[in-house]
Amino acid sequence: MFKPHDVRPLFPALERLQHGEPVVYLDGPGGTQTPRTVSAAMARVLDRGISNLGGSFATSRDADEITGAARRAIADLINATPAEIAFGQNMTSLTFAVSRALSRTWQPGDEIVVTRLDHDANITPWVMAAEEREVTVRWLDFLPEHGHDLDYAALDGLLTDKTRLVAVTHASNAVGTVVDVPRVVEASHAVGARVFVDAVHYTPHRLVDVEAIDCDFLVASAYKFFGPHTGFLYGRHELLAELEAYKVRPAPAEPPGKWETGTQSFESLAGVSAAVEYLASLGSPSTGEASRRVAIRSGMEAIEIHERRLTDAFLSAALSIGGVTVYGPTMSGANRTPTFAVDVAGLNAAEVQRALGERGIFVWSGHYYAVEVMRRLGVLESGGLVRIGFVHYNTSEELARVVNALDELSQSGT
Ligand SMILES: Cc1ncc(COP(=O)(O)O)c(C=O)c1O
Repeated sequence: MFKPHDVRPLFPALERLQHGEPVVYLDGPGGTQTPRTVSAAMARVLDRGISNLGGSFATSRDADEITGAARRAIADLINATPAEIAFGQNMTSLTFAVSRALSRTWQPGDEIVVTRLDHDANITPWVMAAEEREVTVRWLDFLPEHGHDLDYAALDGLLTDKTRLVAVTHASNAVGTVVDVPRVVEASHAVGARVFVDAVHYTPHRLVDVEAIDCDFLVASAYKFFGPHTGFLYGRHELLAELEAYKVRPAPAEPPGKWETGTQSFESLAGVSAAVEYLASLGSPSTGEASRRVAIRSGMEAIEIHERRLTDAFLSAALSIGGVTVYGPTMSGANRTPTFAVDVAGLNAAEVQRALGERGIFVWSGHYYAVEVMRRLGVLESGGLVRIGFVHYNTSEELARVVNALDELSQSGT
């Protein structure tokens, strides 16, 4: 039996929901848990009643206050200003909205760059927009033999003075690679291209800093960082102001409101603020006047330390199981999230998912919309891989359950 001893117990601050049997929730769409403070904040809004923005009565003032608070929370989370934060249904919808708006400024013969490491939500919206505008799509590959990291050297060859946009992920939701986004941004800005960053997978694992990475746009989804199902868009204020948004006439003409279509989910926005407060609560207790950004930094550092331990423990155990292949960076100390694409010899990914599910371990199999990753790894046609993605609330006992289940399955598969 595998028993990790180097992973300390974690964050009792998260009061975990249990649904009958003890289960292991690993990350993935709808697969993370939310703290009770998040669900309580959302329930409060629904219980009290809420109205739309901009009215001179209590429930509308509440909606204004909740929306403003959520913008301030996300601004603290990613080091931006509240006026640069717009909310939407999810990352995919927001990316389609920006791709439509941005592509109006493109000319036939222009070029864009997308990567094979990205989730399809940061590929197809751009490819469709490019098709409409007769713009050439250039593909940046990743290198399985080099920790599944992007081929940065090839990027320089793809960028030209015609490149208008580079769409890149901050971290891979399939194999866990953390991308050197500042490097991509520097090279892209040098030719005058805008950079759109998908931070959906990165945000629950590491501190986002839009100022440090200097990107033009960034999107993420609160359900991945322990909040509700709502997405947010960051854009440099001047870009959000000058670009023409697809909006109805009575909607605000200025950012961020002009990027928000229809009525927002105010209960979700209350949950977004609570999720950010939760992340801020995970670090060392702040002293004196420390800002929420400082507390978030400390919380994310605690998450990173714990996740690195989980990563090392998982890798050393899983790599020693015969018949189990782990995709993604496998070097000790590699810059990666604790998300692993795994193959068990003799079983297809759906069978492994089912078998783990029967053992109360909830994981995804297939391509999880990272279609190009699976194609590049040569496993798309054969059913993809199983994704085992830990987050900060996973315990050493849970990790041991997962490893032991893989061990058992590898013996049944051979
Ligand atoms: C890396 C990445 N990008 C984008 C998405 C899409 O996010 P949403 O469901 O909010 O549209 C996901 C969802 O799993 C993801 O993991």
